[in-house]
Amino acid sequence: MATAGKVIKCKAAVAWEPNKPLVIEEIEVAPPQANEVRIKIVATAVCHTDLHHLFEHTNEEGFPVVLGHEAAGIVESVGPGVTEYQPGDKVIPLFISQCRECHFCKSPKTNQCEKAWVGRHNVLAGTRLTCKGKNLLQFTGTSTFSEYTVVNQMAVAKIDPAAPLDKVCLLGCGICTGYGAAVNTAKVEPGSTCAVFGLGAVGLAAVMGCKAAGAKRIIAVDINPEKSEKATVFGATDFVNPKDHSKPISQVLSEMTNGGVDFSLECVGNVEVMRSALESCMQGWGVSVIVGWTDKEDFSARPVQLIAGRTWKGSAFGGFKGRDAVPQMVKAYLDKKLMVDEFITHNMTLDQVNEAIDLMKHGKCIRTVMTVSPQ
Ligand code: CU
Repeated sequence: MATAGKVIKCKAAVAWEPNKPLVIEEIEVAPPQANEVRIKIVATAVCHTDLHHLFEHTNEEGFPVVLGHEAAGIVESVGPGVTEYQPGDKVIPLFISQCRECHFCKSPKTNQCEKAWVGRHNVLAGTRLTCKGKNLLQFTGTSTFSEYTVVNQMAVAKIDPAAPLDKVCLLGCGICTGYGAAVNTAKVEPGSTCAVFGLGAVGLAAVMGCKAAGAKRIIAVDINPEKSEKATVFGATDFVNPKDHSKPISQVLSEMTNGGVDFSLECVGNVEVMRSALESCMQGWGVSVIVGWTDKEDFSARPVQLIAGRTWKGSAFGGFKGRDAVPQMVKAYLDKKLMVDEFITHNMTLDQVNEAIDLMKHGKCIRTVMTVSPQ
């Protein structure tokens, strides 16, 4: 490519400070250094974690930043030491890296990676992106609300060249997170009864995962009655609106299921809902998985809930090791074994990012895919 080795000037949405609209700016994107890949982002979507950083992570240390982590693009150029990726490859950036060398990566038990940015304010303090003489932080090491970004090769999944990037971008976070939480973390069993709390993209993907795992009954729970129809598309058999009941939702579910569900998945990120999800599980063997993201509050429950045989777990990116699993998820979509298009409720361009953030903030979309560059 003609741009290889040179600084690229391009458009990006910059979050200069918390709680403020993003600003479309011209930024400079440095050439990739050793083990890095520069990617032309084709499509990206707003996810709750972006909102969490912008509106709830009031720590100024996390700014200025380029948000965005759910995306797909094309490799523009690679730095020294990169052999697995070449210019022209279609890729999905990963917010949880897979270095393949640390003790986590070598264990089949987890998708955590020692080199991941999660937990360190969720930002990579690099110097690859700059604007008006200032360094821009890279959210989760990715920063996809930009025409170009630079990502370490351990955080890149190479996907099928036939994949439509304006669809499979959603496999960069939400869909894999929910689907994997059901399949990998909860390990939903055939014939089981499941409950999914919260029907955003992650919750709907969890419903799809429960169905794929052979669950016989999938109870979708949301306070927005409009979500009912969509949940059915992904395989929900029942819909419960907690607002329709005066009893606690755990009691409602327990009565519906003769003692509780086998598996429950919390896809909201609310500590009260996490507790309800746990208490909705059958004693003896019920498994409850926390999928929704929050790091602001403590949660609580009575120890007897666990003593009585319930298991409480958490899941990040659905337990998937990204470099290995994301290409397989893309393949499953191309083979029509996985729904992706059904999550897209709006299409926009990067210039409309604040509108897309607004829709997400007010629960008015499942996913808004923003076109960033031509495919
Ligand atoms: Cu996300």
